[in-house]
Amino acid sequence: MCGITAYYGDRETCEILLDSMKRLEYRGYDSAGIAVLSKPKISVRKDTGKLDEIEGKLNHGNSKSRAGIGHTRWATHGNVSEKNAHPHTSCDGRFALVHNGIIENWEKLKEGLGEHEFQSETDSEVAAHYIEERAKNKGTEKAIRDFMREAAGSYAIALLDSEEDRLFAVKSGSPMAIGMGEKEIFLASDVYAFSPYTDKVTFMKDGEYAVVEDCDIVVKNTRGEEVGKRVETIRWEQDDSGKGAFDHYMQKEITEIPRSLEKLQNSLETDQRDTLRRFTEKLKDCGKVIFTAAGTSYHASLLGVYFLQKAGVEAQALIASEFENYERVDENTLLVPISQSGETKDVLEAMDYSKQEGAEIASITNVPHSTVERKSDLNLRIRAGQEVCVAATKTFTNQLYVLMKLAESINGTKVENSLMEKIKEAIERNEGQIKKLAEEMKDEKDVYIIGKGETYPVAREIALKLKEISYIHAEGMMGGELKHGTLALVEDGTPVISLIPGKGSDIISNVKEAESRGAKIIEVSPDYGDFYVPENSNGDFAFFSSVLGFLLTYWTARKKGLPVDKPRNLAKSVTVQ
Ligand code: M6R
Repeated sequence: MCGITAYYGDRETCEILLDSMKRLEYRGYDSAGIAVLSKPKISVRKDTGKLDEIEGKLNHGNSKSRAGIGHTRWATHGNVSEKNAHPHTSCDGRFALVHNGIIENWEKLKEGLGEHEFQSETDSEVAAHYIEERAKNKGTEKAIRDFMREAAGSYAIALLDSEEDRLFAVKSGSPMAIGMGEKEIFLASDVYAFSPYTDKVTFMKDGEYAVVEDCDIVVKNTRGEEVGKRVETIRWEQDDSGKGAFDHYMQKEITEIPRSLEKLQNSLETDQRDTLRRFTEKLKDCGKVIFTAAGTSYHASLLGVYFLQKAGVEAQALIASEFENYERVDENTLLVPISQSGETKDVLEAMDYSKQEGAEIASITNVPHSTVERKSDLNLRIRAGQEVCVAATKTFTNQLYVLMKLAESINGTKVENSLMEKIKEAIERNEGQIKKLAEEMKDEKDVYIIGKGETYPVAREIALKLKEISYIHAEGMMGGELKHGTLALVEDGTPVISLIPGKGSDIISNVKEAESRGAKIIEVSPDYGDFYVPENSNGDFAFFSSVLGFLLTYWTARKKGLPVDKPRNLAKSVTVQ
């Protein structure tokens, strides 16, 4: 699961590649590497670690090379090590490649190769040796076509051929975008990787490969026939303006929540107004609505179910990775994938499956021009701007907002207009209290978060945040479920964060049950506890409690001295199954 990029042109190849790789680091930051065409062989540099730590080592300096490939890795096959970092090369050094995806039958392909010396434990390396073997008699293009016929799984590959001074791209199942500049070609897992250099873009389809030679590109199918491609001019929407005065992106992105919501609100009233209307019609007209998503976006989709059911629309949510095991989809289904990145592989698989079964797809994404967006019949953008921290924060609250708006258009309930102001106030007024609590939280091993109704998904979301960013074991659950097992784990002083919308809430009896077993109750409520929580109506408590949970996570991780924006073992976008 990785980010790949390639360049062919007259600029300083390594500089371009490094810049693109930084934009792709959301796909993995275990290791990185660069290969450039140089005579007589390809030159490769790679290492483990994040790009800002190793970029000096990867840069080949003022090389005269006109072509190169780059990779940022999230390990799947083979541990995090220099030898498993991409690019991988053929035995004779003629070929080097970078790969995103998983070649499922790599062992079988390897067995069929005969005497080849492998350097890594990765599935990817087999492609370099396979192409080397076949290219000897047939030439590179035919070798690539053979590979496409034989390889199973998903892959996007960029390949350098030093003998022919050519760059190739191959795609099946994983994304590959092509950027076209003045006498230069860019390849990458997404269009943002080359956004500073060109806005002319085309997307490769599964079963296509591309040949880049002398800054010209030709796309072909598996029979070797040229395929006509439509070149689009992209309007860039996402720009990373840096951390500014903040210490971490997470802190900046939480602070941006009110502004992001305002931008979304504005967009839903202007440029996306018609899309919102069409989306609403689809929700009302279909037989059933099925949300699918992963991680934080899945928690948003649980709230989507809650809001839509209240608006009288039958809806359910299903984790994307289990979609086919648990779902029956047909032509009466409206599938609603929710994905910040629009690149989560499990979500894409659920979409492909649903499409085959005849379902219509109306998606909700953040990153414009993503694969989810392009595969959908209709798409709403949540307009949260670029989110750099691995933790989804402002994109979660924008997802909630769009879901509330959809429910609002169906049943006429009004989303609070002062919501953004109130969130801003809650962020400002709780800082001291949050820091105090984070000081205690940093030494905790286990935390439970309970919610009910609209706050059950939020409880799960806060738990996810505490795990991924603060490295604390946390469970978010329905308050009523505590007594069906988990209560056995509650000892004197076990923290139980309780999301209580107000006086008289049903969840209070669950809070009492935990308290009477010695739990340390941390109340998030307008009526109880030490936090400032604004009075709420129509679902805005979900926003306030999420924001407080995000802040608590942030300050706890910070007090523990953790790498807040890039936690261990994770990537922002999960592009493998
Ligand atoms: O890009 P997506 O919304 O599809 O990503 C889904 C999850 O991988 C993501 O929400 C993940 O759980 C976040 N890092 C949580 O903060």
